[in-house]
Amino acid sequence: AVFNDPIHGHIEMHPLLVCIIDTPQFQRLRHIKQLGGTYFVFPGASHNRFEHSIGVGYLAGSLVQELNKRQPELFISRRDILCVQIAGLCHDLGHGPFSHMFDGMFIPKVRPESKWKHEEASLAMFDHLVCENALEPVMKEHGLVLPDDLVFIKEQIAGPQNTVPLRQGWPYKGRPEEKSFLYEIVANKRNGIDVDKWDYFARDCFHLGIQNNFDYRRFLKFVRVCEVDGKKHICTRDKEVGNLYDMFHTRNCLHRRAYQHKVGNIIETMITEAFFKADPHIQIQGSGGKMFTISTAIDDMEAYTKLTDHVFEQILYSSSSELAEAREILQNITCRRLYKCVGQTQAEERVEVSQEKLLDWAGCVARSRPQNDLQNVTLQPGDFVVHIINMDWGMKEENPINNMRFYCKNDPTKAYHICKDQVSKLLPERFAEQLIRVYCKKTDERTMEAAKKNFVQWCMDRNFSKPQDGDVIAPELTPLKASWAHNNDTEDNDEEDSQGGRGWAAVNGGQEKAKTRLF
Ligand SMILES: *[C@@H]1O[C@H](CO)[C@@H](O)[C@H](O)[C@H]1NC(C)=O
Ligand SMILES: *[C@@H]1O[C@H](CO)[C@@H](O)[C@H](O)[C@H]1NC(C)=O
Ligand SMILES: *[C@@H]1O[C@H](CO)[C@@H](O)[C@H](O)[C@H]1NC(C)=O
Ligand SMILES: *[C@@H]1O[C@H](CO)[C@@H](O)[C@H](O)[C@H]1NC(C)=O
Repeated sequence: AVFNDPIHGHIEMHPLLVCIIDTPQFQRLRHIKQLGGTYFVFPGASHNRFEHSIGVGYLAGSLVQELNKRQPELFISRRDILCVQIAGLCHDLGHGPFSHMFDGMFIPKVRPESKWKHEEASLAMFDHLVCENALEPVMKEHGLVLPDDLVFIKEQIAGPQNTVPLRQGWPYKGRPEEKSFLYEIVANKRNGIDVDKWDYFARDCFHLGIQNNFDYRRFLKFVRVCEVDGKKHICTRDKEVGNLYDMFHTRNCLHRRAYQHKVGNIIETMITEAFFKADPHIQIQGSGGKMFTISTAIDDMEAYTKLTDHVFEQILYSSSSELAEAREILQNITCRRLYKCVGQTQAEERVEVSQEKLLDWAGCVARSRPQNDLQNVTLQPGDFVVHIINMDWGMKEENPINNMRFYCKNDPTKAYHICKDQVSKLLPERFAEQLIRVYCKKTDERTMEAAKKNFVQWCMDRNFSKPQDGDVIAPELTPLKASWAHNNDTEDNDEEDSQGGRGWAAVNGGQEKAKTRLF
């Protein structure tokens, strides 16, 4: 079968892949927005997990076939290729309503003790898909060896599946160490350079209306498997290292401009609140006739198959009194009566994010009334929402490119490390930062003004960075903080410059102007 995809053009799919796509478990992804609440900000971002999954399946096949063509000595088999394509297709089967809103906000709020992530559900949903649609015989017909290949597919999605962690040696069971590079295609745990990113960069940029400066087609021309310390890894040409820095820079831009958009994020918070309030009253039938809710459906794949973005409309169009409050929140989103951002700041040190910390800080902001304040506005902890956003290059403080290896023209079999200083002096000093944002649920002018002053006072007490608009919203407060006094860009050392901290300020300023156009 041929799929006409707006990003990759005409994609040919192996019949086994089509059998996987034509199931209720896979088709469910048509009803889950790739970018969740971001669609409420960027009118083009209406694409769904379905097309992304097809794209990743296609790119996974392209990469493994490219390696096979260039390096027949790797003995990549038809079976290997099919399994890599299936892993690409199925890697996101476990996403819930509004994608990352579900595993990043909703589940942590309703089940704070749970460490559940969508990858876990992808494995459960994959097993369910294979079983419900009796695909094992079909897989065997097409040459797969079961159960080894099912294990291999799952390991590519979620990493080694050992319940008892092996201390030494090769942790995977589906393929031997000679084929280690196959585990670096769909979800590369070593450095995050994988086909999942290539598809979402291209697809998200296309739908957001943002330029993508990473060209995976070029990357495909230079990939090679080389031996590094006795293990086979996917490597690229030395001269491509700059493009990889650009790739992570692009990823960071997408987070700043779109994925972590102030308004998009607060809409996801409001949807999460609505789902939280509706949770006990939404009934989804699962296996054996048992009933589940939004938050418990993750434990039963039959119920989870029926849980998509549609719960939003289910609540919005409901009439029962039990759902009244949840419904009103969604009506408020529809009419754009949104919580408003009070300000954004950064901490000196990394802070651990937890539900308690967020609630505690909301209370602190409410209590940070500046002295000598003449306004008689009373602010409650429940009026505030605090977000702590981790922005990084996918590996916490680490530079992912340190885990990439490169070959040069003289000897394509030798792979080596290239350090950042060998590339350019204009690259980041740090690879992770956190943004702290505070929103207020009451949006009348007097409350907002008071809330903003509280926020500035709280930043001062906490030694956080001066809010960008601090001197405008609280000119009587900011001069009181000595460490906020010098505000000189030009005389700062170049370390600060190369962190991109100023770049963020500049881009964010541009965003502010553009924002009114976006929705
Ligand atoms: C909906 O918005 C109105 C006006 O901003 C507000 O008074 C009301 O409390 C909101 N409803 C909910 C359930 O948050
Ligand atoms: C706040 O209350 C005090 C005393 O109750 C009053 O003098 C002052 O004018 C009030 N301020 C505003 C802005 O209403
Ligand atoms: C803020 O910095 C000052 C001076 O360096 C210090 O005395 C104070 O304890 C700090 N406050 C917090 C909350 O870390
Ligand atoms: C600029 O900041 C530095 C400290 O970062 C300070 O020593 C210097 O006096 C400041 N210069 C001006 C002109 O404010």
